[in-house]
Amino acid sequence: MKKQTLFLGIESSCDETAAAIVAMDEAGHGEIIADLVFSQLEEHAAFGGVVPEIAARAHVEAMDGLIAGALGEAGITLDDLDGVAATIGPGLIGGLMTGAMSGKAIAYAAEKPFYGINHLEGHALTARLTDGVSFPFLMLLVSGGHTQIVLVKGVGDYERWGSTIDDALGEAFDKTAKLLGLGYPGGPAVEQAARNGDPKRIPLPRPMKGEDRLDFSFSGLKTAVRQAAQALAPVSDQDVADICAAFQLAVTDTLEDRLRRALLRFQAEGYQKDATPALVVAGGVAANGAIRAMLTGLCTKEGFAFVAPPLRLCTDNAVMIAWAGLERIRLGFDPDGMDVSVRSRWPLDGNAAALIGSGRRGAKA
Ligand code: KG4
Ligand code: ZN
Repeated sequence: MKKQTLFLGIESSCDETAAAIVAMDEAGHGEIIADLVFSQLEEHAAFGGVVPEIAARAHVEAMDGLIAGALGEAGITLDDLDGVAATIGPGLIGGLMTGAMSGKAIAYAAEKPFYGINHLEGHALTARLTDGVSFPFLMLLVSGGHTQIVLVKGVGDYERWGSTIDDALGEAFDKTAKLLGLGYPGGPAVEQAARNGDPKRIPLPRPMKGEDRLDFSFSGLKTAVRQAAQALAPVSDQDVADICAAFQLAVTDTLEDRLRRALLRFQAEGYQKDATPALVVAGGVAANGAIRAMLTGLCTKEGFAFVAPPLRLCTDNAVMIAWAGLERIRLGFDPDGMDVSVRSRWPLDGNAAALIGSGRRGAKA
């Protein structure tokens, strides 16, 4: 390998079209050279969620310009690249195909290796770029499409310890917001409303709390929110604030219970190599201040370092995809052939048992 290895990353698995150029030096340190993200949020807002057909068209329209923009911003041509990485799953098929085809075409034309990346691996490895986190570590992924606790043992070596059996956490925030007439995406709106609310006025359940398995469930909580809102109808601003505060507290309590068990299991199973191993958070819900505060406190108590990459890199982006490609080429992983196909479902941990009720409707990751 020459001094710096340069990768183009492409992401289009949900409602963000993104292209990035990332460099890795010989010591394995990364540098973000260009990072472009086009969010389709406005195009989906009217529908209260991501519409696959709209997303697919928007990716096609935005992709070429973003890739050209990233190369331009980096001041390089395709010849300067050492490889191309594109998300090939999991996610919405239309978007994945757009990104994978673009990546393969560029790799083929420029005669560069192509790496088809699992979007979840991108999230999992980001903290190594931003914070130099070493293996093994734990990751909590909380986004619009995923809620998982993953043991990250190495590049391509993951164990899923827990997952949602129904709604993803971001989805639960979005549905709660919709129910209460707060806009989309719901997470920031619920957090904002909760600031003026009394979290103790309305009792809500803590699904899965106390159970040994590290899974999550949020649909019962959503039903309880609906029942509380119906019982109070017509709801005042104060009612909405109180429901949001109670919802956020229930979520935070549940997460804390699951994560505490995961941290203890990490130690009990002998994964602790560092004095302070890392718990890394990823996904859009990582923006939530109450959840961050809880995770910070929990990590301090249990002797873990809490690592939260900058929010821009916690949500969907192409930097993480380029970085995953760089991590792979550095370790000598074989590139993918031009025949590698996209996969709407693709668990990080191929050995994880399928969860009852884990069929995801949305494909956000
Ligand atoms: O990772 P992300 O940007 O997109 C994907 O899921 O791919 O995550 C979006 C999710 C949405 O469900 C949104 O409501 C949630 O993250 N979110 C939040 C907050 N900001 C965004 N949830 C709770 N509190 C927030 N402040
Ligand atoms: Zn994602």
